Amino acid sequence: MAKHHLPLLFSFFASTYAYTWPSPQLDALEGARWEQPLHFFLRPCNAFDFDPNGAAAGRASGRSNAADWIRTAYHDMATFNKNDKTGGLDGSIRFAEEQARAENIGDGFANTLSKIVPFSNRYVSVADIIALGAVIAFETCGGPEITFRGGRVDATEPNTAGVPKPDQELDSHIASFEKQGFTKEEMIGLVACGHSFGGVQHASFPDIVPELNDPENTQSSAHFDTTPVNFDNKIATEYMSGTTLNPLVVGHNDTTNSDKRIFGSDGNVTMRGFADSPEAFASTCATLIARMIDTVPAGVKLTEVFTPLPVKPTSLDLILVGDKIQFSGQVRIWNATRNTSPQVRLLWADHTGSKTNNATLPFNNAGDSSNERNSWVVFKFGTNSPFQFITLDAAAGITNMRFAVNDKIEDQGGLGFPVLDDIFFSSTSCYTGDHENPSGGRFDIAVRNGANPTRVYLEKEIRDATGRTTIQEIDVSPPTTSSPSGSPAFSIWSYNPGNDTSDLSAVFTIGAEVNGVKATRSSIQRAVTQFTACA
Ligand code: HEM
Ligand SMILES: *[C@@H]1O[C@H](CO)[C@@H](O)[C@H](O)[C@H]1NC(C)=O
Ligand SMILES: *[C@@H]1O[C@H](CO)[C@@H](O)[C@H](O)[C@H]1NC(C)=O
Ligand SMILES: *[C@@H]1O[C@H](CO)[C@@H](O)[C@H](O)[C@H]1NC(C)=O
Ligand SMILES: *[C@@H]1O[C@H](CO)[C@@H](O)[C@H](O)[C@H]1NC(C)=O
Ligand SMILES: *[C@@H]1O[C@H](CO)[C@@H](O)[C@H](O)[C@H]1NC(C)=O
Repeated sequence: MAKHHLPLLFSFFASTYAYTWPSPQLDALEGARWEQPLHFFLRPCNAFDFDPNGAAAGRASGRSNAADWIRTAYHDMATFNKNDKTGGLDGSIRFAEEQARAENIGDGFANTLSKIVPFSNRYVSVADIIALGAVIAFETCGGPEITFRGGRVDATEPNTAGVPKPDQELDSHIASFEKQGFTKEEMIGLVACGHSFGGVQHASFPDIVPELNDPENTQSSAHFDTTPVNFDNKIATEYMSGTTLNPLVVGHNDTTNSDKRIFGSDGNVTMRGFADSPEAFASTCATLIARMIDTVPAGVKLTEVFTPLPVKPTSLDLILVGDKIQFSGQVRIWNATRNTSPQVRLLWADHTGSKTNNATLPFNNAGDSSNERNSWVVFKFGTNSPFQFITLDAAAGITNMRFAVNDKIEDQGGLGFPVLDDIFFSSTSCYTGDHENPSGGRFDIAVRNGANPTRVYLEKEIRDATGRTTIQEIDVSPPTTSSPSGSPAFSIWSYNPGNDTSDLSAVFTIGAEVNGVKATRSSIQRAVTQFTACA
């Protein structure tokens, strides 16, 4: 009997998986996936602002960022070969060599990458952000919610070609999708889901689409259906009713009517089902798009599907100032709006054993994403004026937080929210010369007595030659007799960047090796110019 109950239990937890905070990778992925900073490029869903050649762009372009993001995810994935598990969604579309291939014609990839790549970082790969771009385009623009996992790994070189082209025969398309891991019926579904957005451009396919000379469609995009910036089943209803203007169905040259061949390849059974039921179409697309973005090469292990944390501390920052710590940060409360905003108090424990420290937190801001499907409010640690931080006795510090949200205690089931207060920046860090263009400076790191790190280093996020994010480590020197004094509970390690302008303008987090374990100890990013001028 027990054997029967276990899987049920697991499937329950799998569908409501909220991980335990803190987890640097999941914290970053959770914010990107649920707060969706990317969705600002999709407000409204016909937003389009890519203008490499000075051509008319904007909302009358006939194009949309949403369509470009979805096509980019598919073309990155479509190189997958299920037989040797190579290719797939691995960000290889960022390489100029891939974008130059005939199978990847058009500037939609450059548009997509220019917007979304800046949101990738050490925890969220370019491939993750490409997957997320497609998810957010569907969710924001009328489509179903799509399950998202993180953990994709960016390729270091272009993949073998393999994206289908419209002039290929049906058999070759079936074989191509088979290689990508999809059956013929799934191919029909995936093409219909994708082609619910966007269209074919004259510039890319002049033989399929003429110059439209339409001031409302300046880039001459012949749309796949009459609602090209929204997800709906019109791609199927218009096809079934024979009213479709889809240029890959009713194009004058049958050779390039690939949607016609694909949609009709099972006697229209799949497309009729989509036309008859918007719900069936949406749920099929949710399943197929999730599989599409989870198609990754061998060796890549994706994370669990994670739900938003109900209560999430963010941006924790500690700075040693004399014998005090200035503690700042924020806490995000999910499923709340400005109007339904709760009262939030921070309760914390410290190194003296006290558990009664508490502060009422001021409201900071409210956010929403996915067309208001998700909403949250953010509270700031500290008081609204004059200081946005909580002042702690340096020796007492802080070890663990709990929150009272409308008097209900939120503490991750008793675990609390642990805070590392042993290695962080000291306010004695400083710059010399011009604030905008410093000529020198010093990074001072406060290390709590007893922490005993064998190594302290600054972490700088950089992109390698292939565009992947990596971490450069810069060693910080142990205290000398001349190290600035602060709290007796701390000693100061220092790094002097000399006149290295790249270090003087960069932001750093702090890492350390303690008891043989190497990890980030302070994840707020700080630059030398965020401190005062050196005395
Ligand atoms: C046999 C398979 C497919 C063929 C032959 C095909 C062909 C095409 C062509 C010729 C275009 C016009 C591109 C341009 O003018 O720049 C296009 C656009 C598009 N395709 Fe596909 N496609 C296929 C499958 C898919 C799939 C599976 C998806 C996504 C799930 C997808 C998503 C899109 C989107 C969103 C656009 C619009 C891009 C825009 O408006 O900028 N396609 N496709
Ligand atoms: C139709 O398209 C194919 C492939 O692009 C091309 O080779 C052929 O010449 C075209 N036929 C006509 C009549 O334009
Ligand atoms: C599928 O439906 C379209 C539109 O009604 C029709 O033109 C086409 O002949 C049908 N194809 C098949 C294979 O039944
Ligand atoms: C937010 O609300 C939705 C809809 O009521 C619910 O399914 C979800 O579990 C809530 N999430 C959190 C973190 O409270
Ligand atoms: C909050 O702090 C005050 C002292 O500032 C203390 O008297 C009170 O007991 C604390 N409340 C809780 C719930 O710990
Ligand atoms: C930076 O310092 C080095 C010596 O540490 C010196 O050789 C170099 O000229 C300096 N560069 C600038 C731009 O001041």
